[in-house]
Amino acid sequence: MQNATQIKGQTKGQTKEIFVSNNTFGKLKKMLVFSALTLSLNVAVAVDNKVFDQADIARGKAKSATCVACHGADGNSLAPIFPKIAGQNRSYLFKQLQEFKSGTRVESVMGGIVAALSDADMADLAAYFAAQKVSKGVLSSGKSFELGRKIYRGGKKSTNVTACIACHGVHGKGLPSAGFPALAAQHSLYISKQLKLFRQYSLNQQTGENKPSRNNDYEGMMINFTKNLTNKEIDAVSAYIAGLK
Ligand code: HEC
Ligand code: HEC
Repeated sequence: MQNATQIKGQTKGQTKEIFVSNNTFGKLKKMLVFSALTLSLNVAVAVDNKVFDQADIARGKAKSATCVACHGADGNSLAPIFPKIAGQNRSYLFKQLQEFKSGTRVESVMGGIVAALSDADMADLAAYFAAQKVSKGVLSSGKSFELGRKIYRGGKKSTNVTACIACHGVHGKGLPSAGFPALAAQHSLYISKQLKLFRQYSLNQQTGENKPSRNNDYEGMMINFTKNLTNKEIDAVSAYIAGLK
């Protein structure tokens, strides 16, 4: 591949090649340098950091009563259409709540819920859920597991899909300072829904349709990585992610 950088990555003691396109590599470097200077890239851009810094876990717990019905008592939802939010990075949670409110991430259920929340409420809630422990995920198996692992760890060179591991990490813990969310142990149904929503954004761009989509990712990176994935690949990588710990 002319246009690509091969990076030697360590996975379980073995050295493996993972695919990262040059384009992504440049963006990544920019983000990491920037995030070293600020608490979090996304948070630094979106809001004034004071509210975020003054967040309080106990206040967040008190405010979380309305979330329990869908996300579970400690943020570990049981129904797979509701994402687990326990143990998710605080900066990512805060950013999502902000964006459900501003309409940058369009979702009718959460849009209604956050309408009444202040920045301080969102910061407290993010601090509370980030401090909870995510429950155990479901392991996938067989051919789907192999395909999911291949994409997660290696990407898909033929169509420029960067390895997920580059940003979300070997164990799926993400990188809070750069705004990369944790994915480990998330419900696979929710993960595949999000990947298809990112992909739908680029399909809409091509076809002029206006189907529900997601485009609140920094520099469209997730839109870029999903546009060349098939349903089968999305479902396999989602199932693989659900078993990460
Ligand atoms: C009526 C059900 C319901 C309630 C109550 C609810 N949520 Fe949600 N929440 C959802 C659904 C559904 C989604 C997934 C949206 C999608 O598929 O894009 C979601 C997504 C989220 C996300 C994004 C997670 C991610 O990984 O990107 C966050 C953060 C969140 N909710 C926080 C909260 C908080 C905090 C509360 C309480 C103030 C709350 N939710 C109450 C249904 C609910
Ligand atoms: C260059 C970095 C990067 C790479 C590589 C990457 N992601 Fe992401 N991903 C992100 C960022 C940044 C977000 C957060 C977008 C936002 O702020 O809403 C994200 C969000 C997600 C989400 C939504 C999480 C949620 O809770 O709603 C999923 C699912 C996801 N990525 C899966 C993947 C998969 C699968 C791959 C590999 C095919 C991948 N990512 C590769 C940076 C990356």
